[in-house]
Amino acid sequence: MDDKIIGIASDHAGFPLKEFLKGLLVNWDYKVVDLGCNSEDSVDYPDFAYPLARKVTEGKIPRGILICGTGIGMSIAANKVKGIRAALCWDECTARMSRNHNDANILCLGGRTLTPKQAEQILKVWLEESFLGGNHKRRLDKISKIERDG
Ligand code: RB5
Repeated sequence: MDDKIIGIASDHAGFPLKEFLKGLLVNWDYKVVDLGCNSEDSVDYPDFAYPLARKVTEGKIPRGILICGTGIGMSIAANKVKGIRAALCWDECTARMSRNHNDANILCLGGRTLTPKQAEQILKVWLEESFLGGNHKRRLDKISKIERDG
């Protein structure tokens, strides 16, 4: 799949940061699939987390970004979808680890907890880093087993 495609979605609290990050991604030559929302009018974050998560697990987009006020609601909702590893990141270290160790396929950000500059730095690291495999793969396989068998 084309690694230069990325999905993005937010609720009202994440909308301004979503718009800011979209501009950056376009400048970085990403094709951005924006799944809403489209204003700061109040909406419910699961309605935006689920469609984006499904696009990732269906293989239509390789990875995505979800933004709400804190990023917490988006991460809880997205992680209900089998195959999703949504990571709430708040600095460059958590962004790096979420890729190196957890192979996160969705980045969750807090629109009310991060400055645009902080979010930019987190996103940049998250996009550049890769999964390290090895012992970390064994652990992810155990999570997949929980998803399969309960
Ligand atoms: C909306 O007010 C807020 O609860 C939501 O954006 C998010 O932070 C939930 O986790």
